[in-house]
Amino acid sequence: MKGWNKTTLADQDLGFLVLDAILELEHSKKEVCPTSTQGIEKFMAEWIRVANVSEISPSKAREIEHQGRVIAIFQVGEEYQAIDGICPHQGGPLAEGPLDGTCVTCPWHGWQFDVVTGKTPLGTRVKQEVFPVKREGDEIFVELP
Ligand code: FES
Repeated sequence: MKGWNKTTLADQDLGFLVLDAILELEHSKKEVCPTSTQGIEKFMAEWIRVANVSEISPSKAREIEHQGRVIAIFQVGEEYQAIDGICPHQGGPLAEGPLDGTCVTCPWHGWQFDVVTGKTPLGTRVKQEVFPVKREGDEIFVELP
């Protein structure tokens, strides 16, 4: 085979290997990400009805459980705020803690969280997850992932 040398063959082999790898990757993407929305739906958030407005007041939060997740819903002024209801310290129920402005104090040992941002004065390593809230008529909804 005049004109072909070892280097050229090696380059061609490498080229085919790369092409095979690309085709294999494209094929595996189709299997992992089918064109149906079935795989995507489980990652979509959903709005969950959590309370009637009469069930929450500035002095009375509400705790709900949805699919093993505990959410605390607070009323701050005319707005409603939702936060992960389990204190990261030792699992205290944040919905049972007193609310001062936007700051809730865990009833068990006093850790504090801002119910709007999830932040705590304890530092930046601890932050409670917060969730979008909307009101429709007399009903309150929280968007959960
Ligand atoms: S469990 Fe909340 S401060 Fe300890």
